[in-house]
Amino acid sequence: MNNIRFNDKKDGIIILDQTLLPGEEKYIELKKPEEFFEAIKTLQVRGAPAIGIFAAFAMAVKAGSEAEPQSVRSCCGSSLKSDETFMRTMIDFGEYLKSSRPTAVNLAWAVDRVIHAARVEMHRVRQSNPGVLNVNAGHGALAGAIMNEALLICEEDIRMCRNISEFGLSLLKYGDGILTHCNAGPLATSEYGTALGPLILGAEKGYNFRVYSDETRPLLQGARLTTYELMKAGVDVTLICDNMASYVMSKGLVNACFVGCDRIAANGDTANKIGTSGVAVLAKHYGIPFYVLGPTSTVDLNCPSGADIPIEERNPEEIREKFYEKPMAPEGVKCMNPAFDVTDNNLITAIITEKGILRPPYEDSLKEALK
Ligand code: MRU
Repeated sequence: MNNIRFNDKKDGIIILDQTLLPGEEKYIELKKPEEFFEAIKTLQVRGAPAIGIFAAFAMAVKAGSEAEPQSVRSCCGSSLKSDETFMRTMIDFGEYLKSSRPTAVNLAWAVDRVIHAARVEMHRVRQSNPGVLNVNAGHGALAGAIMNEALLICEEDIRMCRNISEFGLSLLKYGDGILTHCNAGPLATSEYGTALGPLILGAEKGYNFRVYSDETRPLLQGARLTTYELMKAGVDVTLICDNMASYVMSKGLVNACFVGCDRIAANGDTANKIGTSGVAVLAKHYGIPFYVLGPTSTVDLNCPSGADIPIEERNPEEIREKFYEKPMAPEGVKCMNPAFDVTDNNLITAIITEKGILRPPYEDSLKEALK
């Protein structure tokens, strides 16, 4: 994967800065904890699966910087920093990263997964030294486990996107019109993407899709990123303002809506970029199938319904003045800027995961998929 990768020494991460697209394709190198935090917070790296991969890589870099010299790898009852201290540092750093953006559960999922991998390694070493007190695996070994897990998360994402793309494509016909919201393409994942995956795969196979991309106020992921990715992939894409979706649907131009997701609750309620639920309501009105596409790592069975999903509130300046030459609203005007909304499960025709196409009732199909 090119948009998120380690540098040669694996002590930093190189990302394509998404805030500069489509005007500038600039790769930046990040090494410090605050830079990792800010990259997520400011959407230099964005999209639920990509945030997860990036967070796992950030954990690996942090773990590498905590690894101690070989000579203190294993010690019994010494005053040197123990595995537990290392784990505490990693858990704290993970919590710090998690606090950068609350809605996409892939962030917490990836952090918890790499920490779990280190814990498994710690227990493995303890069990292979029965009866020995205070056995340490050593920070190097734990950092290695975190690095391997981070690379695995990235590899799995590539396979996951491919599966979702194939399942999604099976729901479409040659020449279909598809409306999408925000950006759920390769930039938001690894390859292909989720909601855009079937459209890019379809282009490779000669399907003649017409895609309508909502611009996606206020940060314009649809205008800046979706059109950029689809044009690069040779897909016929038309940019529309968010408030034009009803118009294009009413003209019979849309056969299906494909959107990504940031967190799917146990009952199938789904959080995605603000404006998604409005698209779903319109789709129901016009009798158009509305599909949510995302990996099972986006499912959070700890959230019984959408009401339990935390919604990120962002800086009002994003509405008032970002992307304008000068502020476009009176100074001091009150703004509300929720970054996501929740689409009710009864508006969702199917949820397409790497495991297959899930249909209602989602309580059952999601549980089954996560087994
Ligand atoms: O705020 P963003 O740009 O990170 O929001 C992204 C979305 O809402 C995507 O649709 C979602 O993360 C899925 S990306 C495969």
